Formats: sequence, structure tokens, C-alpha cells
Amino acid sequence: MTTEAGTTLTIGGDLTVGRVGFGAMQLTGSQVWGDYPDRDAGMALLRSVVELGVTFIDTADVYGPHSNEILIHDALHPYPPGLVIATKGGFVRGGFDYSTLDAVGNPNYLRQSAHMSARRLGIEQIDLYYLHSGRATDVPFETQIETLAALRQEGLIRHVGLSNVTVEQLRVAQTIVEIVAVTAHFHAGVRTGAAFLDVCEEDEMVFSPWHPLSIYEGANRDEVKEVVAPIARHHDVTESQIALAWQLHRSAFTLPIPGTTSLVHLRENLAAQEIRLDPDEVTAITALVP
Ligand SMILES: NC(=O)c1ccc[n+]([C@@H]2O[C@H](COP(=O)([O-])OP(=O)(O)OC[C@H]3O[C@@H](n4cnc5c(N)ncnc54)[C@H](OP(=O)(O)O)[C@@H]3O)[C@@H](O)[C@H]2O)c1
Repeated sequence: MTTEAGTTLTIGGDLTVGRVGFGAMQLTGSQVWGDYPDRDAGMALLRSVVELGVTFIDTADVYGPHSNEILIHDALHPYPPGLVIATKGGFVRGGFDYSTLDAVGNPNYLRQSAHMSARRLGIEQIDLYYLHSGRATDVPFETQIETLAALRQEGLIRHVGLSNVTVEQLRVAQTIVEIVAVTAHFHAGVRTGAAFLDVCEEDEMVFSPWHPLSIYEGANRDEVKEVVAPIARHHDVTESQIALAWQLHRSAFTLPIPGTTSLVHLRENLAAQEIRLDPDEVTAITALVP
């Protein structure tokens, strides 16, 4: 389905945000481990994010770990009205090396993680809390969702979202608690999360594609370039901007979260909302991955 790119979307029926969010993960150390090296620049960038009108920031406890949520707090707290911060729990890393990435579903761990995220962010209630991964096997998936449902019932979480799950897991989760958003790997060159587009439209959930600008990361990079580059030239914008514009045109429920450490790129990413793609251009990019 192709829709006109609207200017806002609403999460969970009550949190209205702009169509282009900000993924804060880049504001950490090398390999998303440790502090962002230039703390002042990171704080300034986050303040620009809000000043330029972004109303949705995506973070996670594992970014740093912890340092990303702390930087957001230190840069932006007290938060301006209307700013929605989504964070996630359940992923763990044993060190800077990504080979140590794992997931924990233990109810006490998830409960502690959500409480500590709220404490680091300096908030009573987390607007949107994602289970970061569906791959924890220490307890049944249902138990992990029940834990988030209880946290929502207690008021610590306003809305529940899912990250890196399967559609089957989403369907199971929906029998336990309302799911308002799904975030998955999805862009012009990679469509891991493609199945969620239809599901999110049907059930009016937000679909938040992560890595939205990393369109040349796959083996199909040459084909992607061949299609995206001429469209960018035609509109006199960058290929990254076309990558975002395509996301916005692809579905009215899509909330991309581009990450940047650059003010110039931040402005470009927001300006992508103004691009009006022809239906043929949307179709050509969509067709890149069958
Ligand atoms: N749920 C999950 O498991 C998961 C996994 C990965 C990421 N995420 C989320 O998704 C967000 C975005 O992902 P990401 O940051 O990994 O990848 P991304 O947004 O696809 O790309 C970020 C990269 O693109 C560059 N960039 C940004 N704007 C640009 C522009 N206008 N022109 C050219 N280059 C530009 C950035 O460099 P500069 O800094 O130089 O601009 C950075 O190297 C993360 O921040 C995180 O919140 C979630």
C-alpha cells in the first residue's frame, strides 16, 4: 500500500508525534559501548533534535549500556511537553564485542530494567517500552509479555512495543497486552520487518524501521544505488533523504528513527518530510526487494 506522507502519527491512541523520529544510539562510544566521546557535542545535538521539532526519540538501556539514556536525560530533562521517549529492555552485552549480545527474559530482570530506565531518564512513566528482542529463551515469551503487561498495569509503562520479534510472537503478545508499536530492521535494501507493515496498518500500530538510512549495507547495494541515486538527482536531494521519503510514502503508519551525530544530517533528515515522491518512484524502490 502506498499512502500520502502525512505530517504526524499517533502512538497508542494518545501520543502524537512527527513522522521522522531520532534514533539516539549513535550517541554512544565505539560499537555502541561506553560514553559518546564528545559529551558536550552530544548534548548540543540532542537539544537541536528537540529545537528542530523532533517529538520522538528512540533509545535503549543497552545503548552504552545506560550512557545513552543518561545523556538524553542530561541534555533534555525536564522534557518539553509532547516529547515522546521510547526505550527498550531485555538485551544484554558482555562487552564491547557484539558477539556477546544476548537476551534475558527473567521477570525480575525485565522489571528492574524498566525501573532503572525510568530512573535514568528521570521520569515516572515510560511513554513506550519495547521488549528489545524476542529471542530470550530463559523464560517463555508469554511470561516476558506478562511482565510488561504488569508494568503497564502498575503505571510504570504507558504503552508496550516489540522489537526484533516475529509476527507469530506479535500475535501471541497481542493476546496478553495491547501492543502499540513494532520496531524492526527495514529499509530500501533490507526488508526483515516487511511483514509488519500490513499487520501494523490492519491493527493501527506504529511501525518504526530501524537502520532506515543504512540502505547500502546489503549484498544488493549496487542495485539499490542504481534505483535510488537517479531519484535523488531528480529531486535534487541526497540518497539518504530519498531513503527516508520512501519510508514515509510506503505507509502512513511508519515512523523511521534515523540516527546522526551531525547537525547538517539532522536537518536533511527532517527535510525529507517535504519530499513528494511520484508513485512510480515509490514502486521502483519497493520493488528492489521482492
Ligand atoms: N531495535 C533495534 O534492535 C535497533 C537496532 C539498531 C538500531 N536501532 C535504532 O535505530 C536508530 C537508527 O539506526 P542507526 O543509527 O544504526 O542507523 P541509520 O539511522 O540507518 O544510519 C546512521 C548512519 O547514517 C549517517 N547519517 C545520518 N543521517 C545522514 C544523512 N542525512 N546523510 C548521510 N548520512 C547520514 C550517520 O552518520 P552521521 O553521524 O555522520 O550523520 C550514521 O553513520 C538507532 O539510533 C537506534 O535508535 C534499533
